[in-house]
Amino acid sequence: MRVIITNDYDAMSKKAAEIVAKTVMEKPDCVLGLATGSTPIGLYKELTRMHKEQGLDFSKVRTFNLDEYHGLAPDHPQSYYYFMYENLFKHINIPLQNVNVPNGLVKDVKAYCAHYEEMIKQAGGIDIQVLGIGGDGHIGFNEPSSSLGSRTRLKTLTEQTVKDNSRFFKKIEDVPKFAITMGVGTIMETRKCLLLANGAKKAKVVAQTVEGPITAQVTASVLQLHPDCVAILDQEAAAKLERKDYYAYVERMTHQLTVE
Ligand code: PGA
Repeated sequence: MRVIITNDYDAMSKKAAEIVAKTVMEKPDCVLGLATGSTPIGLYKELTRMHKEQGLDFSKVRTFNLDEYHGLAPDHPQSYYYFMYENLFKHINIPLQNVNVPNGLVKDVKAYCAHYEEMIKQAGGIDIQVLGIGGDGHIGFNEPSSSLGSRTRLKTLTEQTVKDNSRFFKKIEDVPKFAITMGVGTIMETRKCLLLANGAKKAKVVAQTVEGPITAQVTASVLQLHPDCVAILDQEAAAKLERKDYYAYVERMTHQLTVE
């Protein structure tokens, strides 16, 4: 795993945007895997700025989001579709028929999840997947003990996740208890993964993910097996990494190699 440690949230977001924008420029009809939560908001702001000021073109891009709350309609203010529309889609020139967020209202969840997987396949697979990380180590909503080979399905959220996400709802009882999420196996098939984490609250789980054993108890740790995963962290989230200095050294050396 490549580990990039940036000074702060802004620098983390800019670095991530640089990598996503490179993919979009090199392959204008690329398939982006997107994430919700507070972590990628800065990335989406920067992509919006690049679109408005530099003409970064999303007209042929297609997107697939990782997850959606079960039971919430796309126009519910806490739904992930709504989040994506408000934080990215409405600010850039992506045709809305090119965006895919799991439908939280489907009756036949199993058939729908198989269909979501099929749509990703039909699109040619995901070129770059943006990931946040939950306090319990989840990627997507793959809570601890999720199969590391899992596919898109319905998951029961942990009490911790419900609590963490209650900050966006009026009361904790309003937080959905289930979500449709891409599986760990689905995420592992994406060509490149971009794991973002900021803040001291994520320091422990980031250390477990990057330097701990690969375990279904911290589903993000499986990214150690991904052939092209970049973790972009701020100083606080990187604070508990034992090999922090080495990761910074690698980045300096790589820069030197490409400059020379
Ligand atoms: P956060 O959530 O970005 O709001 O911290 C991350 C996650 O739960 O995946």
